[in-house]
Parts: sequence; C-alpha cells; structure tokens
Amino acid sequence: MEEQAAKIRIDELREILRENSRRYYVDNAPTMSDYEFDQLMHELERLEAEFPQFDSPDSPTRRVGSDLDAPVGANAESQARQGFVQRPHRYPMLSLGNTYSIAEIEEFVARAEKTLENVRFSYSCELKFDGTAICLTYRKGKLAQALTRGDGVQGDDVTENVRRIDSIPQQLHGDYPEEFEIRGEILMPYAAFDALNREREAQEEAPFANPRNAASGSLKLINPEEVERRGLICTLYHVPAESVDFASHSEALDAAARWGLPVSPERRLCHDITEIKAYIDHWDQARKFLPYATDGIVIKINELACQRALGYTAKSPRWAVAYKFKAEQACTELLSIDYQVGRTGAVTPVANLAPVQLSGTLVKRATLNNADQMALLDIRTGDWVYVEKGGEIIPKITGIDPAHRAKDAQPPVFPSVCPDCGTPLVKAEDEAKWFCPNQDGCPMQIKGRLLHFVSRKAMGILAGDMTIDQFYAAGLARTPADLYDITKYQLLSLEGWQDRSADRFLASLEASKQVPFERVLFALGIRFVGETTAKGIARHFGDIDTLAAATQEQLLEVDDVGEVIARSITDYFAKPEHREQIERLRAAGLRFDGAGQDAAVSDALAGKTVVISGNFSISRERMKELIVAHGGKAGSSVSGSTAFLLAGTKPGPEKLKKCEKLGIPVISEEEFRAMLPKAVPASASLPSGGKKSRPRFAAEMPPEGNTLPAGESSSKETIEELTLF
Ligand code: IVH
Repeated sequence: MEEQAAKIRIDELREILRENSRRYYVDNAPTMSDYEFDQLMHELERLEAEFPQFDSPDSPTRRVGSDLDAPVGANAESQARQGFVQRPHRYPMLSLGNTYSIAEIEEFVARAEKTLENVRFSYSCELKFDGTAICLTYRKGKLAQALTRGDGVQGDDVTENVRRIDSIPQQLHGDYPEEFEIRGEILMPYAAFDALNREREAQEEAPFANPRNAASGSLKLINPEEVERRGLICTLYHVPAESVDFASHSEALDAAARWGLPVSPERRLCHDITEIKAYIDHWDQARKFLPYATDGIVIKINELACQRALGYTAKSPRWAVAYKFKAEQACTELLSIDYQVGRTGAVTPVANLAPVQLSGTLVKRATLNNADQMALLDIRTGDWVYVEKGGEIIPKITGIDPAHRAKDAQPPVFPSVCPDCGTPLVKAEDEAKWFCPNQDGCPMQIKGRLLHFVSRKAMGILAGDMTIDQFYAAGLARTPADLYDITKYQLLSLEGWQDRSADRFLASLEASKQVPFERVLFALGIRFVGETTAKGIARHFGDIDTLAAATQEQLLEVDDVGEVIARSITDYFAKPEHREQIERLRAAGLRFDGAGQDAAVSDALAGKTVVISGNFSISRERMKELIVAHGGKAGSSVSGSTAFLLAGTKPGPEKLKKCEKLGIPVISEEEFRAMLPKAVPASASLPSGGKKSRPRFAAEMPPEGNTLPAGESSSKETIEELTLF
C-alpha cells in the first residue's frame, strides 16, 4: 500500500475503532460485532507496524477501551452528573491481545518457549468471561474499594454497588494480606438477564442487547438497591503481581479462593500446546452449558518470574493471550432481498430470511452490506445462508451453503436506479456502496434525515417513522427546520392526531431547544460526524460560526478528526442550503453555542432521589439526565429513600401502589418542571392521565430486535459507509 493511502486508511480505522469502543464501553450498545472490531484493530496494528511514521500515542492500538463517559480529569460537575467519582488505579488495568486463530496461539507458545528457554514454566488456561471488568481492593480483610476499568488509568468508583453483589465477600477469612488488589469480571447470568429484559419490555424500556451490556449498565446504576435486584455475580482471575507475594498466578488465585473470594474453578494448568488445544476444544462446546456468557479462553504464563521476563506492550501483557470463539451461526433460507435507502443515500441490500433461532433470538432479516459483498458471497434467492449476529442486534449473512442451491437459481440484480425515487445510482471509486445522488428529492433520504434529527440521541423529539411519514406526505416537513414551523392546527388536521398527542409533540419540540450544541451538531447529520466526534468538535470550536469558518488544518487539530471527517465537514458548510438550514434552526431557538455547559443545571433537587415512571414530553433517558443535572439522583425502584415519584402518562401500577403504601408523593411532569429554575421552559400544556394506545414514538422505542429500521439508524450508517465491508 502506498504511504498516502495507508495514512487515509489508518485515520479511518482509528475513527471507526474509537467510535465503536465508545458504543461498546460507554453506551453499552455496540453496533459492530466483537469479531469485526477485532479484525479492524488487527488491520490497524499491521498498518502501524508497516508505516511507523504515522505512530500516535493516542491510537486505539495503544489504549484500552474506556468505560468512562466523562473525559479524564473532568470537572466536579460532570462527575456529579455522572454519579461516580473517578479514582486512579494503583496499577494500570490493561487489556489482552487476542486472536481467533489457533495458529497464532501456537506462535504465542513458540515465542514464550523460545524466550524462556531452559526455564520450566506452565500455562494457566482459563475461561474468558464476557462481562465488565472490576478491580477490588481489600484492606485488613474488608472490601475497601471497587473501581471499573475506566480508561485503564482511572476508573469509576462503584464500591457501594459492588457491596450489593452477593458473591463478593465484605469480609475475608484466613491468612489474607494486610492490603491487596484483585481483579475480575462482573457478570449477569442468562437467567437474570432474561428476567430483567422481560421486566424492561413490560415497562416499555429498551431491552439490553446482551448480558455483557446488562452487567456493565447495571454496575453503573445510581441506586445500589436496584443493583442488588439485578442478580449480578463476580468471578476473579487476576492478582496484580506487585500486590501480593506469590511465585505464580495459580498460587495467588488458590490463596484468594481460601480467603473466600470467588475464583473460577474451571482453570487448568497446561504444559504444552497439545494440552492447551485440548482445553480450548473442550470449552468451545462445554461453554454452551454454562449459566453465563464466555467469549473465549485466556492463556497466561503461570510463573510470575516468567511473566516479568516477558513484560508488557503499551496496552497488554506479553505473557497472556486470549483465544476468542467465533460468534454462533445459524443456517436458513434466503427468501428475498430488499434494497433500503439510508439518509445519506447509501443503498443497503437486506435479506428476508425464513425465521431462525440465533443466540436466543428469532432472526428474520439480515444485512448483506453492499453489492460487492453480495458478489463475493455469490448469493442467490432460495440459497441456504449462514447468519451471524453482526452488531449484536443486526445479524449479517456471512456465507452460503452451495450444496443446497437450486439448479436454476439466478443471481440477484442489484438495482441500477434508486428503489425509492428512480434516480440512477452512482458509486465513487473508493466506496463499496451505491448511492442515490438525489439528496434533495429522494423521499427515503429526506425522511431518513428527519428521523435522524428527531432521534433520541440527537434532538429527542417525540416523532417516529410513522409520524415522519405523515409529515412528509402532508408536505409539512422536508427539512429539520420545517418541524419547528408545524402548528397545532396542522397537526390536528392529520389522521389519528388529537389534542393530547399534538401537545406532547409540540412540548417535545419546545424542549429540544434546550438540547446542548454538541447534540444539535450531531443531529445535523453531517456525514461521519457521530456522537463522539460531534462532542469533540463542539467543545473545540465552541460555536457553529467558528466551526463553519474552520479550515481543514484547524479541523485536524481536533482529537479524533482525520482527513475523512475534516473533508466531510468543510463540504457540508460549503453548501448554501446547509447554511440556510442552520439559520432557520437558529431563528427557531436551537442552541448553536455553549458546548459543554448545560444551561439547565441547578441544585434544586440536591439530596433527592427521584423515581420516574410512565411517558413524558421528553424521553425517559433525558428526563433522568434532567434530574441529575439539577442535583438529584434518578432511582429505579421506589423505596423509603425515594423523595417522590415523577409520574408521566401510564405510570407503572406497582410503583404507584408502593408509593401509596410508603406515603411517598406522586407528582406530574408539570409540577416537576415548576420545581426547576426558569432556564428549563415549562412545556406546553402537558397531557395527563392514561390513554389506551399511543403513537409509537421512535424517540422512545427500543431498537427493533431483528429488523433493520426503515431509513437506517444514522450512526450505524456512518460506520457502514466508513468500513466498506
Ligand atoms: S486477565 C493483564 N483473565 O478480558 C491482564 N482477563 O479483553 C488482565 N477477561 O480486560 C486480564 N476473562 O476484562 C483476564 N480469565 C480472564 C479474563 C479476562 C475475561 C477480560 C478482562 C480483560 C479483557 C481483555
């Protein structure tokens, strides 16, 4: 590869990996499979090794993924808002090198044997637990502190939550050292995960995609009582060598078990590659019967003196490696292929499948990514295809079974014109996707941009795809700015709209005027500007005018912004129609400056734990943010320490009953807003009381399990377009 092309690919990979790392560790909502992520990381490692001139200490290859959602060294306010204090790790919490190939495990063993020639040593083989990492400190036998991995240098202090996990002892017994650290994984067993998701669905809350996300989300709950209810467990697998005085890893863990700590009983000492392979083969099958998730095997050199001899890279030990299992696959029939047009015009082929069970869910649709991928697979309608969970939620087709092909099966024809507006599709040389170039006229693109703008992570306006379809059909909205011109009279003229739904929509529009600049910037839908990038850019430039005037060089100064993003931003602001859109949105009252500060911060709710239930003029997630921004805590279950229940429409009957029993006040959204300082506008007259059926608002809907949302989710598309799978 040429130097110039390598630089572009390196930048691109770093952007993709950072964005996905954040989705995985911070949002607990990955949109890329671990396998894809690992492959991209390996590609970046190879390129960086080949082109060392592009080395950067910030590269994802040199940093462990961070679960902190405030930047390192964040101020007290953001810490308070987040709810956890960040504390430094005494010893950095590193990651593990990983591979999916047995040949690379053989190489690891060969390398170790060569470096440690003439030394007798063994390998500790263990399960790789798929949860969230934790670092415990015991002082005088008592649990003193629990930190998440954070960014590896400092983590969130979740001690109070960890005290509620049954399998973690508060008090040790036996000959434990005065003070030591021990690390491991917090897991949510499948049974607890299923029960939690059933409960969340009943309450119309988004289910967790998998037990790992559920464990890490639960560990960061503000209310320890709720953590207790979640049924988390812990297994410990690492005592930092500096922390205790043992000759080997297995001795340290055996001792920890004697002190009463939960240490995995599945560990085995192996002495050569044959024994290691037997361990891997056994657990590749046997893990399916474990009550919790594992995603591989970890192989560690057992003797601490040997570990020291091998040392560390910037982000992982050279004395350990993870062998990861490939995701589960299912085989089913391909019934037909749809072609979906996303908000950027990218056309994605989507397979309709004969429903099949895969890792606990029924799969009916799967992405085929792009025309190249279809050609590579040489796919035909009627084929039997292999499906894997891609981004944990959206499955993808990874192969076909040629033995099952009908003789007369014809290859599908990728459309040459847009399936929505009929415009001939175009394809840039360096892109894998076909695009509909009719940006301003293609209904799917127009609606896709509107849906992205209103989405929960952008403006949080209560409008889903059905509402956007209605607005579009009635000629009420073509661009985001049009939404702010919609009147109640116009809403009431649409089918199915009533006073209440119109008020709720208008109230959410009004509330969106308080959305901070960084989210407004994300909502604009500039290509490749995902949530993290938008945040970085907003903080760097402070306001939209400075950003619009920025040169490529100035944009490149922002962390995480490479040439691809910088070009996309300057292209965006070069278009007069985009500038006009921004002016109209500014006139409507949206925030285009003041990044990083929240005008709506006060201590009006200091010391109060507020439990919310039902639906509000803004999403539940934003309502919780609002509570925290005003100094309160968002609790998840009603207890004696709850200050009041904030009830929207359709509050949970159980919660209401409990409030009545405990004498806890129940207040409406209107009353609640009256408690806050004036900076937050009281929304237009809010609906109260229940309603049998309500419109399905995208802003509040959980991600659809096995179907691709029409018009594609914005952020997903950004990644798909970038990765050229
Ligand atoms: S040892 C210095 N052992 O996998 C190395 N990690 O991808 C310390 N993990 O951050 C880690 N099971 O959260 C180790 N048996 C095991 C593990 C394990 C799961 C996690 C851990 C680590 C991540 C690396």
